[in-house]
Amino acid sequence: MKLSEKLAVLEEEERQAAAKAAPAEPGQARPRASRTGAKSKARASSTWEESKRKVRGMVLAEVAPKMGKLKGEALTTEVKNALDKILQRQDVQVSPLERRKFVQEVIQDTLGYGPLDPLLQDVNVTEIMCNSFDEIWVEREGRLEATDLSFTDDVQYRQVIEKIVSAVGRRIDESSPMVDARLPDGSRVNAIIPPLALHGSVLTIRKFAADPYTVKDLINFGTFTLDLAVVMEACVRGKLNILVSGGTGTGKTTNLNVLSSFIPDGERIITIEDSAELQLQQPHVINLESRPPNSEGSGEVRIRDLVKNSLRMRPDRIIVGEVRGAEALDMLQAMNTGHEGSMTTVHSNSPRDALVRLETMVLMAGFDLPVRAIREQVNAAIDVIMHLDRMPDGRRVVTAVTEVQGMEGDTILLQDIFRYKPGAGTGGKATGELVATGLRPKFLDKLEVAGVEVPAKVFRSSGNGRAAVADTRARPTRVPTQRELAEAEGGKSR
Ligand SMILES: Nc1ncnc2c1ncn2[C@@H]1O[C@H](COP(=O)(O)OP(=O)(O)OP(=O)(O)O)[C@@H](O)[C@H]1O
Ligand SMILES: [Mg+2]
Repeated sequence: MKLSEKLAVLEEEERQAAAKAAPAEPGQARPRASRTGAKSKARASSTWEESKRKVRGMVLAEVAPKMGKLKGEALTTEVKNALDKILQRQDVQVSPLERRKFVQEVIQDTLGYGPLDPLLQDVNVTEIMCNSFDEIWVEREGRLEATDLSFTDDVQYRQVIEKIVSAVGRRIDESSPMVDARLPDGSRVNAIIPPLALHGSVLTIRKFAADPYTVKDLINFGTFTLDLAVVMEACVRGKLNILVSGGTGTGKTTNLNVLSSFIPDGERIITIEDSAELQLQQPHVINLESRPPNSEGSGEVRIRDLVKNSLRMRPDRIIVGEVRGAEALDMLQAMNTGHEGSMTTVHSNSPRDALVRLETMVLMAGFDLPVRAIREQVNAAIDVIMHLDRMPDGRRVVTAVTEVQGMEGDTILLQDIFRYKPGAGTGGKATGELVATGLRPKFLDKLEVAGVEVPAKVFRSSGNGRAAVADTRARPTRVPTQRELAEAEGGKSR
């Protein structure tokens, strides 16, 4: 390589390094795109960041012993006082002009979650995904977008992760490298660190609306229709067992919360989750949360332990946030043994797939039960499946409400009551709608016994629903055999 070429390469490398280290303003936000002529700015900002890191360390050392006892305003005052003291020292170089901004940032870094704070406050952001200290993505109105925000460095990033995790009594380190936690506002947090995450720690925060979504909100968003709301309210009041199914982030938990809002006030509800997300408004609710093992590998309390325990707590309804494993069998048994009106969610691609997954969970948990017996449990336990999908435009919609109608031989028969009819779609907007298939669900008899009435008109087919009826009648959905399932699982990665 010629000397001039070598110099050009070196210059380019230096330029890129400078752009990478340079925030747009001294502070947190920094454009990801490289900037030209940024050398002096980079130097200034690295001094700024260096000072901030140093001061943050000193403030933490000063305040840490009192942090457990202090909260809110008292803690802020304590941090401010410590900062005042530290900034009078000679070795901290911040010009008087920049001092206010500096103090603000150190307070935010010490008390808040650094660059995550503005995202946590932004009501339009529903999910925050940090892939590394300088790569932060968000989901806004159902769509993913990169932000120009960044943590100061990996150290600050890890401090924030540890702060979130330790606040709920959990820990994250090499022996426990992935953890679920939650923020004080209820947002669900997952953190996973190396060596499991190959390229650095990954933090994912699922935000929830400050006021949980109500059925009205879901109707306004186009997730529910009014007719569907009427039917689902009747199903909940009439104590049918409901399974909410859908892919990741399709709104299963949100819908479970909304369905739970239909439970009459007088009932004793027990919720069981890995990380408490449900926000039930009834007066008589008990929330249980599972617990991962401690550093010695003991003390774990699984969802299935809590389901079993809840049966001794005189529940009227058991609501399990999500079934993923062996608890599926306990849940099915609870639903079949006097705890009707229970609800849960499951990750799946369709209502039929939801039942297959329940069956697989029971099998994979090692219960030595014949498939037929498991299938009978599933058939007897689940009355209605509500399936959700996320549309390409980010909307979440109920795409099927399906009744479990019984067994025919080894097969569970499913019947759609409502089904999503895709529309033409303009300008990237999905314009489909949920229509009744026109069939009278068998569960109406159960509801009648429970004294719950549903106006017949909500089941009348609309639009192309009639075609769907004929179609559904001709081909009742069949749950595949175990062999078919194994073949399908082998060829498909989820
Ligand atoms: N109907 C809806 N319309 C718009 N946004 C929604 C709707 N339902 C849920 N959301 C938002 O979508 C995000 C995901 O919702 P939720 O946690 O309920 O999904 P999930 O299917 O339970 O996800 P996971 O599979 O990760 O458990 C949340 O930020 C929530 O506020
Ligand atoms: Mg969920």
